[in-house]
Amino acid sequence: MSEEISLPKNANKEEIYQALLPQVKALLFGEEDLIANMANMAAVLKEAFGFFWVGFYIIKKGELVLGPFQGPVACTRIQKGKGVCGKAWETGETQLVPDVNAFPGHIACSASSQSEIVVPVSKGKEIIAVLDIDSDQLDAFDAVDQKFLEEMVGYL
Ligand code: SME
Repeated sequence: MSEEISLPKNANKEEIYQALLPQVKALLFGEEDLIANMANMAAVLKEAFGFFWVGFYIIKKGELVLGPFQGPVACTRIQKGKGVCGKAWETGETQLVPDVNAFPGHIACSASSQSEIVVPVSKGKEIIAVLDIDSDQLDAFDAVDQKFLEEMVGYL
């Protein structure tokens, strides 16, 4: 396995995701450690798209606890139902937030964060974590991100 990601040049977002999926699958193949795989997935997404913050919160003893991430320091614990991450956990559904300042209860780990997507990570029927991505631009995420990120976290 090569530990390098190759990114298509002059590609749009969908093409980049399409190029990433098999590479991420190969990168995670044969490795069972969840933390190692989350760390590599966060690194790939940061490298490919330059997002402001990419990382995981893992459910531990009834709350979300900060896991592997790329970007500035972040809040360490989030309660169920709180913020965008807690909402994704509570509802089991991806949260697409075009403007974090308009999201009631948004937890601002950084004032630079403007929009956000949070994707639940499941093992079987149980949610075990969430993938959280923040952008310093408004309205940075759409249904394309949702579709590919939901597929990608399925590799964990
Ligand atoms: N904004 C998130 C908190 C986590 S940070 O963005 C890294 C939320 O509202 O759940």
